[in-house]
Amino acid sequence: MTTTAHQGAGVKAPSFVKNQKLIAWVTDMVALCKPAAVHWCDGSDAEYQQLCQVLVDAGTFKKLNAAKRPNSFLACSDPSDVARVEDRTYICSEHKEHAGPTNNWMAPAEMRQTLQPLFDGCMAGRTMYVVPFSMGPLGSPIAHIGIELSDSAYVAVNMKIMTRMGQAVYQVLGTDGEFVPCVHTVGAPLKAGDKDVSWPCNKTKYIVHYPETREIWSYGSGYGGNALLGKKCFALRIASNMGRDQGWLAEHMLILGVTNPEGQKYHVAAAFPSACGKTNFAMLIPPAGMPGWKVTTIGDDIAWIKPGADGKLRAINPEAGYFGVAPGTNTLTNPNCMASLDKDVIFTNVALTDDGDVWWEGMSEAPAHCIDWQGQDWTPAIAKETGAKAAHPNARFTVAATNNPALDSAWDDPAGVVIDAFIFGGRRSTTVPLVTEARNWVEGVYMAATMGSETTAAAAGQQGVVRRDPFAMLPFAGYNMSDYFQHWLKLGHKLRVNGATLPAIYCVNWFRKGEDGKFVWPGYGENMRVLKWMIDRIEGKAAGQENVFGISPSYGELNWQGLNFTAEQFHTVTHIDKAAWQTELGLHEELFQQLAHHLPAELPATKLAIAHRLGL
Ligand code: GTP
Ligand code: SPV
Ligand code: MN
Repeated sequence: MTTTAHQGAGVKAPSFVKNQKLIAWVTDMVALCKPAAVHWCDGSDAEYQQLCQVLVDAGTFKKLNAAKRPNSFLACSDPSDVARVEDRTYICSEHKEHAGPTNNWMAPAEMRQTLQPLFDGCMAGRTMYVVPFSMGPLGSPIAHIGIELSDSAYVAVNMKIMTRMGQAVYQVLGTDGEFVPCVHTVGAPLKAGDKDVSWPCNKTKYIVHYPETREIWSYGSGYGGNALLGKKCFALRIASNMGRDQGWLAEHMLILGVTNPEGQKYHVAAAFPSACGKTNFAMLIPPAGMPGWKVTTIGDDIAWIKPGADGKLRAINPEAGYFGVAPGTNTLTNPNCMASLDKDVIFTNVALTDDGDVWWEGMSEAPAHCIDWQGQDWTPAIAKETGAKAAHPNARFTVAATNNPALDSAWDDPAGVVIDAFIFGGRRSTTVPLVTEARNWVEGVYMAATMGSETTAAAAGQQGVVRRDPFAMLPFAGYNMSDYFQHWLKLGHKLRVNGATLPAIYCVNWFRKGEDGKFVWPGYGENMRVLKWMIDRIEGKAAGQENVFGISPSYGELNWQGLNFTAEQFHTVTHIDKAAWQTELGLHEELFQQLAHHLPAELPATKLAIAHRLGL
C-alpha cells in the first residue's frame, strides 16, 4: 500500500498493522526524512513484480533475457558504492570500552547529533518503503523481528528474497511485540524537477548501531551489508549483543548437514571471513570418489545458536536467501550454486552479455564481448590490455534459499538443528595447516580468536593483507571482542558443567600456496575429504596425531579415492614451520595486547602452552 506522506499529521497505516509503537515510530521517521510517499510492503509476489518494474523504469534494473534467465535482473551500482564500508561502521554504545578497540565508536548523543541534519529531509522526492521482516522462521523461539524503513526499492526487493518479509510479520508482531528499528537512506534527496540517477548514494556514509537501544541507522550506501540491514547490522552486530545478554550466539557461520553412507547425519557450523568460501562449503557436492556422502544447506552466512533445555546447541539460519559472491562461481566449483541461479535472481555488478544474460570472471570461457559492470564495452583483448574486470570482484547474486537444490529439509525448522562441530578457517597462503582439531573448548576458542585472514573485496580497502579476524567476526562483533571471547568460554563452561557433550572445534585452511604461487589444495568439493575426517574423529574412527596446537590427520587418514594428491603435496599444506609459527605467535601476542582490556586469561595461557610445545 502506498500513501502520500502528510508530515506531522501521522501516517495512515494499512489495517493489517496494529502495533502502535511501530506506527508512532514510522510517523516520527516520516516527519524526519520527509519522503514524498510511504509504501507499506506486504511481501506479495505482485508487489515484488511491481517494485522490480519501478526499478527497471528508473534504470536501476535491467531485465535479463527471460529465455535464458527467467524473472531475473541486473543492477549495476555507482562505482563508489560496491562493498561494506568498515571504516564508516560504528558501534555507538554509551561507553567506549563496550564497543572495544576493534570497532569505530562515537558517543550515542554525539552520533545522533551528527546524523540529525543528514537524515532531515533525506528522503525528499522518494518513497519510504516500510519493510517488515523476520530473521528466522516466523514465530520461532530463536527468531527476531525487524522493520527497515528505506528509500530504496532495490533494498525492498532484496529484503523480500533475503528474509521472511511481508504481512505475516505483523501478525507475529501483534499489538505490542518487539522489533528492531532499522532506518536506511541512500542519502540522495530529490528536489522538484531533479532527474534521478540509476544508483543514488552519497559520498558521506554512516553505518550506525546503538547496541543499548537496539537501533540501526544507515546513511549514504545502497549496497549489500551497508543497506540490507537484516544481515550484518541486525543478525550479527545487534544480535551479538542480544546473544551476550540472553546466553546465545550470533555468528558469521554457514550451517550444513552432512550425511554419511550409513545414513547418519551430522550438523556443522563454519566461520570463514567474507569471500573465503562459506557459500561454497555450504553447498558442497562430494567428489565421485566418495559415494554415499551428502551435504545439505541450512545457511550460507549467518547462524543463530541457542542452547536447548537438553544442553545441546541448536542453530537456525536467520536468513531466507543468499547474497553470494559471483566471481569464481561456476559449474565445477559450485554446481548447486549455479543451479540456484537459473531463475528468479537479482545480480549486482556482474557483466551483461550480448544475448541479455550475465557473465563474471571464472564463470565460463569469456564471451567475445559484453558490457562490464560499469557499462563499458568489455572484450578479452581489452581486459588483457587494461586489466579491466567484466564483473566487480565483490559482484553478488541475491537468490532465495528455496532455489538451492541442496537445501536441507530442516532449513526452515523453528527448532533449529543440533550442532556437532564448529569449523574456523581463514585465507592464509602460508603457516596455517589444512586442518587441526582443538583438544578442548578453550583451545578451540583460542584457534578462533587468533584466526588471521587475507582481506578480500567484500570490504572496501586494501586487499590481500593478513589481518587478525577473530571468529571471522572482526567487522561484525557488536561489542568488545574480549568480552565476546569470554562469552564463548562461559557458554562452553556452562554446557560442560551441565554434562553436555560440546561440539568439536576445528581450524581449517584451504588456501595454502606453493612456491609457484598457486593453491596446493584443490578445495571446493574436495573439502569433503577433510569434512569426512572430522566426522571420523567424532565417531572415534580416526586416531589423528598431536601437533603443537591440536590434533591433525596423517596422510593415510584421509580418503584419497579418485584424487591424485601425493604425500608430498599433503606435507606442503599440513607441515608446521617453526619459524613461521614463531612469527605467527608474535602476531597473536600483538592481538592480545590490542585486546588486553577484559582479555580472558585462558587465551594467553594457551599461547604459552603452544610456545612451550614449539620449544620457544
Ligand atoms: P561472504 O558472502 O562474503 O560472507 O563470502 P563466503 O564466505 O560465502 O564466500 P564464497 O563461498 O562466496 O567464496 C568466495 C570466493 O572464495 C570465491 O571466489 C570462491 O571461488 C573462493 N573459494 C571458495 N571455496 C574455495 C576453496 O575451497 N578453495 C579455493 N581456493 N577457493 C575457494
Ligand atoms: C560479507 O561481506 O560477509 C557478506 C556480504 O556476506 S555483505 O552482505 O555485504 O556483508
Ligand atoms: Mn558474510
